[in-house]
Amino acid sequence: MRRPFARPWTGVLATAAAATVLPLASPVPAAADSVIVGGSPVQVSDSPWVVALSSRDRFGGTRSGQFCGGVVTGRTTVLTAAHCMSDDVLGLPMNRVKDLTVIAGRGDLGTSEGREIPVREVRINPEYDAYSNSGDVAALTLAEALPEGYVLPMAGEGDPAYKAGTEAAVYGWGDTTGAGDYARTLHAARVRVLSDAVCEEAYPGNADGTYQAETMLCAGEMEGRRDACQGDSGGPLVAQGRLIGLVSWGSGCGRPGSPGVYTRISAVAKVMRARA
Ligand code: ARG
Repeated sequence: MRRPFARPWTGVLATAAAATVLPLASPVPAAADSVIVGGSPVQVSDSPWVVALSSRDRFGGTRSGQFCGGVVTGRTTVLTAAHCMSDDVLGLPMNRVKDLTVIAGRGDLGTSEGREIPVREVRINPEYDAYSNSGDVAALTLAEALPEGYVLPMAGEGDPAYKAGTEAAVYGWGDTTGAGDYARTLHAARVRVLSDAVCEEAYPGNADGTYQAETMLCAGEMEGRRDACQGDSGGPLVAQGRLIGLVSWGSGCGRPGSPGVYTRISAVAKVMRARA
């Protein structure tokens, strides 16, 4: 099954845009040792550029309304996945979600630490393709500026951080088991950047999806285990202190041979910056 979208919320939300998403023939659940899957709790003060996207209206208040991740790339700019802004995820056209907020400096979603900043503008990558999930990025403009120290630099074209084998870390408040166990505290998992050949082999264009090296990168461990999962979308993949990817899609979570697929930052930075 092609699984480009976060669909943890379909039980409670209308799926107006579901036309392109087939019902899932329930994929194998992640292995029991899959826990992010395979990660551990981290302090948000050590990674202040990780933010939560929130709407209490749409997702309820228990976990501060968190539904996706994001990353601070400018004092008033947060990047996230374009699919996080879809009707399919929000259950409404995004311009009808009145309380879209970025939460910075809050590791534990059960607290009121940090800051909640309203989103003033959402720009979806004009080259985003919802069917293939190519170019899965949106830029959010914040109503108030964050400190300079929150900003994570982006890795440009040719940056060595994209090389296969590079150690990276993915951050988020998503499902920790693949069974709908959403984290209350920020987690991170160490993963390795995989070669385009390996990613293409994992997603050759069958029902699981198609890997496109120009706009995507994949990371994980071939034996599975450590991975992003539902609810982590839009969150950062960081290597050598720079942003290389955004959580985008995958088949299941932490499954052997099905690495996580990320939006390749070098491929989208130019178009997102050009429109800034
Ligand atoms: N689409 C999911 C989300 O919206 C992210 C899935 C990532 N999956 C993975 N196995 N890395 O939260």
